[in-house]
Amino acid sequence: MTIDQGRPGTGDASPGGLPDARGHFGEFGGTFVPEALHAALDELIRAFEDSRTDPEFAAELADLQANYTGRPSPITEAKRFSQYCGNARVVLKREDLNHTGSHKINNVLGQGLLTRRMGKTRVIAETGAGQHGVATATVAALMGFECRVYMGKVDTERQALNVARMQLLGAEVVAVEAGSRTLKDAMNEAMRDWVTNVDTTHYLIGSVSGPHPFPMIVREFQRVIGAEARVQVRERFGQLPDAVCACVGGGSNAMGIFADFIEDEGVALYGFEAGGSGIETGLHAAAINGGSVGVLHGTRTYVLQDADGQTIESHSISAGLDYPGVGPEHSWLARTGRATYETITDAEAMDAFLLLSRTEGIMPAIESAHAVAGARRLGLRIAEQDPDARPLILINISGRGDKDVDTAMAYFGVRGEADHSTGAL
Ligand SMILES: Cc1ncc(COP(=O)(O)O)c(C=O)c1O
Repeated sequence: MTIDQGRPGTGDASPGGLPDARGHFGEFGGTFVPEALHAALDELIRAFEDSRTDPEFAAELADLQANYTGRPSPITEAKRFSQYCGNARVVLKREDLNHTGSHKINNVLGQGLLTRRMGKTRVIAETGAGQHGVATATVAALMGFECRVYMGKVDTERQALNVARMQLLGAEVVAVEAGSRTLKDAMNEAMRDWVTNVDTTHYLIGSVSGPHPFPMIVREFQRVIGAEARVQVRERFGQLPDAVCACVGGGSNAMGIFADFIEDEGVALYGFEAGGSGIETGLHAAAINGGSVGVLHGTRTYVLQDADGQTIESHSISAGLDYPGVGPEHSWLARTGRATYETITDAEAMDAFLLLSRTEGIMPAIESAHAVAGARRLGLRIAEQDPDARPLILINISGRGDKDVDTAMAYFGVRGEADHSTGAL
């Protein structure tokens, strides 16, 4: 596979109408799938396009968002946490307060309605942290679909609580033993199932990854996060945020909060990838910062791969970020320089996990803790460069940390408490 060493900041940003009709974000995106899936993807595009002009669809989704999920999710000013972030004022978008505990429910409700519209009766999904699996099992129960969720064996162990939740909701959970036994392998298995059962089954992809139209559809169902936050921040603070921060696995919570700010030039967009043990160690999940352009799961994007184009295994303490690719729109935003992508190590994320818990009484998912650590780093960096600046930083808290309590106890038990007194992130 060709290795394109293109780096951020060398392209032309025109976010308006992307993706194009063939699902491209510049050189990224597209539809690299077996022929057997083309008809299903076309059917999905048609169902999505019809749904966008159907007032009944919009009304049903809005009703579910308000009365099932509990939207709008609030914003919370994190005053005590802000004291650790230079002179920044930090505000949190609270997707952790959604029904089922993360932003994943936003996408699943939308795709659940599309599944019904296409007359399909079975949904399959892949999951890493388990939050997308729980959300899919939830919507399957709500709408009466048969449901199977693929999950890497390693992830079933580190996210045992979510496996139990899925099973109690009536889903079948398949533990995948192949490869690194994490999210990438679960996605491979789900793709295989889909090819075999495409007539009855919708593959409910959980991030802005995969072949067109998934990156676009998932972004549109997650757009609600940023659309709400834009209005909420302006009402509360009389301005837009100076920076918006989110963690990036496949990148759905980040695209959701970025989408409505892309055309606001004064708003800086920051995505934080999982730096694992440190990018220099090779043990990380940072596709943009540590990868190159290739094809993974039906889309052209930044991928962790070797010189022969073989996908390399990713590493992160956070199951939801432990994926060797990234959604193609993020590759485009990185290439054009519209968004900045940095890495956060496991240690930095765990430090932030504890700091937010103890300063605000809000325990973030370890995924979200990467965004918290990144926002803190940004606040400290701005204060160093311009001591008079008082930036307003919006962080997407994509989910809550209940599922991660075992991981956190094991981590802090082994290493002792994190030390954030130095501010040395
Ligand atoms: C709470 C939470 N945040 C973030 C993610 C990462 O996914 P994405 O990058 O698509 O938002 C996950 C994935 O499972 C998650 O559970």
